[in-house]
Amino acid sequence: MSRKLRYKVKKSVNLIAFDSPQSPVTEQYRLIRNNLHFSSVDKEIKTIAVTSPEPSDGKSTTAANLAVVIAQQGSKVLLIDADLRKPTIHYSLNVTNTFGLTSVLSKRINLEQAISSTSIAHLDALTSGPIPPNPAELLSSKSLDIVLKQLREMYEFVVLDTPPLLSVTDSQNLANSCDGVVLVVSSRKTKRERALKAKELLEKANSYLLGVVVNGVESKQTNFYGEYI
Ligand SMILES: Nc1ncnc2c1ncn2[C@@H]1O[C@H](COP(=O)(O)OP(=O)(O)OP(=O)(O)O)[C@@H](O)[C@H]1O
Ligand SMILES: [Mg+2]
Repeated sequence: MSRKLRYKVKKSVNLIAFDSPQSPVTEQYRLIRNNLHFSSVDKEIKTIAVTSPEPSDGKSTTAANLAVVIAQQGSKVLLIDADLRKPTIHYSLNVTNTFGLTSVLSKRINLEQAISSTSIAHLDALTSGPIPPNPAELLSSKSLDIVLKQLREMYEFVVLDTPPLLSVTDSQNLANSCDGVVLVVSSRKTKRERALKAKELLEKANSYLLGVVVNGVESKQTNFYGEYI
């Protein structure tokens, strides 16, 4: 089945960076990627959490496309589905989700066994794995830091898709465990105070804010657009 057909599968996000590398939207994802390199002048940025204040702001779309443009540059990158509330990466990258992050955190299998290669060169995926009844506990556990430490040795970049900051506490723990955070806000629906609240939670979590992606900005060429500020 072609990738385009698979977009119709429920929950899959648009991997525009893969399908249309020349599009102005993909160029915006490259801009985010390049800004990561600039941000990392003083501090090594390897693990990046992508989050947003609320559901459906575009976290998974941003995380997946960011991982694709990093891979297209030739860097070895892992995309992790750390949104145990609503995992989508296995649909977007068309890989199985029998094992994944939860399987590793609960020590059912080892890390290497849980990682899937994808059809995109240099891009691997660690899907969510089966969803436990206590996702927050699993993600706050020390074992997450151990897993991220191991991955730092294996990949040049690790991008984590996470749940909404204002809905569950998982993202704060994840943001704290990562070198940097990209905050996605929706140009259409995110209210100013919700964006500020999200930023405040990230500060409380002692995380390093790399930048804010304003998702869904209308453009003349396309209605699928983002902007990095
Ligand atoms: N820039 C964009 N232009 C048009 N549609 C978009 C854009 N970004 C995301 N979408 C669409 O909006 C919906 C939500 O996007 P996405 O799944 O990336 O958000 P999310 O923040 O991960 O949501 P959730 O909180 O449910 O995990 C999807 O159908 C996606 O295809
Ligand atoms: Mg999502």
